[in-house]
Amino acid sequence: MSTVIYYFSGTGNSLHVARELQNRIPDAYLIPIVSLLSQDVVKTKAKTVGFVFPIYITLAPVPVRKFMKKLDITSTEYIFTIITRAGTLCLAHYYVESILKKKGRSLDSHFILNMANNSPTGIKPTQGDQNWINELTKEKIAEMEYAVQHQLDLIQKIITNKEKYPEKGFSHPLKTFFTNLLSCITDNIHTEIKFYSDETCNNCRICEKVCLSGKIKIDYRKPVWQKNVHCFYCYACFNFCPEQAILVKKIYTLKNGRYSHPEITVQDIAGQKQV
Ligand SMILES: Cc1cc2nc3c(=O)[nH]c(=O)nc-3n(C[C@H](O)[C@H](O)[C@H](O)COP(=O)(O)O)c2cc1C
Repeated sequence: MSTVIYYFSGTGNSLHVARELQNRIPDAYLIPIVSLLSQDVVKTKAKTVGFVFPIYITLAPVPVRKFMKKLDITSTEYIFTIITRAGTLCLAHYYVESILKKKGRSLDSHFILNMANNSPTGIKPTQGDQNWINELTKEKIAEMEYAVQHQLDLIQKIITNKEKYPEKGFSHPLKTFFTNLLSCITDNIHTEIKFYSDETCNNCRICEKVCLSGKIKIDYRKPVWQKNVHCFYCYACFNFCPEQAILVKKIYTLKNGRYSHPEITVQDIAGQKQV
């Protein structure tokens, strides 16, 4: 296999992007990052390696950061990232660049795609955005998808030709310092999102299936977010619950709709845990 795309996706945007890119690069192979987290070292012989993942509060998700450190890319010739986000500041590529630098490597290209915001608290963590789902109209999602498809056509060409992108690079010592500091702090501070399920929970166990960190266990027919397991903050439980029974205490208690990428299923998300 000459191209490997490692991906992480809570609600399907990043998985959709990874799949669409795979459709454009015939020899590309997709590997879920979550399935490799228990390994100490991950070695790849792929000539081209890509990472596709969302940002959480400007940064790469913690499992993505952990994975990057484990990855041995000695035989890789070309490295890229595609980051999906709702549209605010992205610092994650500075972190990726730092990790690669420690391995004597560098990002050859990096791309940021704007997609649907998958959570009411992602961008407004302390108060939640009560209007979040109303902003995600069918038209807006279709518009974003159109732009993504167009961008992926260009991205595929850049990757296949092993070009540099952006051509001038993106070195920024202050942003890199700040990103690494923030990443270091958030690697070790595990803020709990106060998820709970209300009385409409019907014990379908979908939340447990899609929980990428394994934090949710069903106990007496109700989901329990175990205190000793760190949440990945992916919002899969919240968004895939068919009853919208999962809410965030005091911050988002509305049952007015949820978001997951229309082409991505519960099985697709849960499948990331399969080794
Ligand atoms: C906890 C959390 C934090 C987020 N923070 C940001 C952010 O800082 N900026 C942004 O543009 N989007 C943010 N988002 C939105 C996601 O990055 C975006 O919806 C992404 O495409 C989701 O990808 P996925 O469906 O593959 O999980 C956040 C989402 C979550 C769940």
